[in-house]
Amino acid sequence: MKKSLVVVITMLGAGVVCLNIRPTLAAAGLNGPGPTTMQRGQKVYEQTCLACHQADAGGVPGMTPPLQKSPYVQGPANKVIGIVLNGLNDGVEIDGDTYSNPMPPFNSVLKDQDIADVLTYVRSHFGNKAAPITVTQVSQIRQGVKK
Ligand code: HEC
Repeated sequence: MKKSLVVVITMLGAGVVCLNIRPTLAAAGLNGPGPTTMQRGQKVYEQTCLACHQADAGGVPGMTPPLQKSPYVQGPANKVIGIVLNGLNDGVEIDGDTYSNPMPPFNSVLKDQDIADVLTYVRSHFGNKAAPITVTQVSQIRQGVKK
């Protein structure tokens, strides 16, 4: 009885140590699109994109396009970064359905880090498997579009 209690306490201790290591790895930039980037990206998604693109990124038929099976989401980094910075009013076709509502620009709402995080999150969730987006990529595109 006592022994098993000691084991449980030891395991809890190990868990706490593991949790403490994460921010250190993130600060050292060693975890790539690891849990911390994903957690931040998910938060930005929930606060900024979810209302239109929905929790499952399935969109709203005839209104908002899905972020699944989307050539934009998994396509070239500069294009998808540009969409979030500048918004989009071109009309899109995703998986055979067309959409024509405008998406507002987020360049004054989201920081480069927020955009890198949310796009890295979206590009690796909802069935997507595309490369992460870095802060440097976002700031380069932002500089290119500034008046
Ligand atoms: C106010 C509603 C709204 C919000 C908020 C919004 N979008 Fe959109 N989004 C749209 C609409 C509408 C389109 C289609 C625009 C068009 O047809 O030209 C779109 C298009 C897109 C596209 C290209 C088409 C596709 O489905 O892949 C991407 C990528 C995208 N949005 C990502 C995001 C991300 C990431 C966020 C959060 C930072 C976001 N959007 C927030 C409404 C929204």
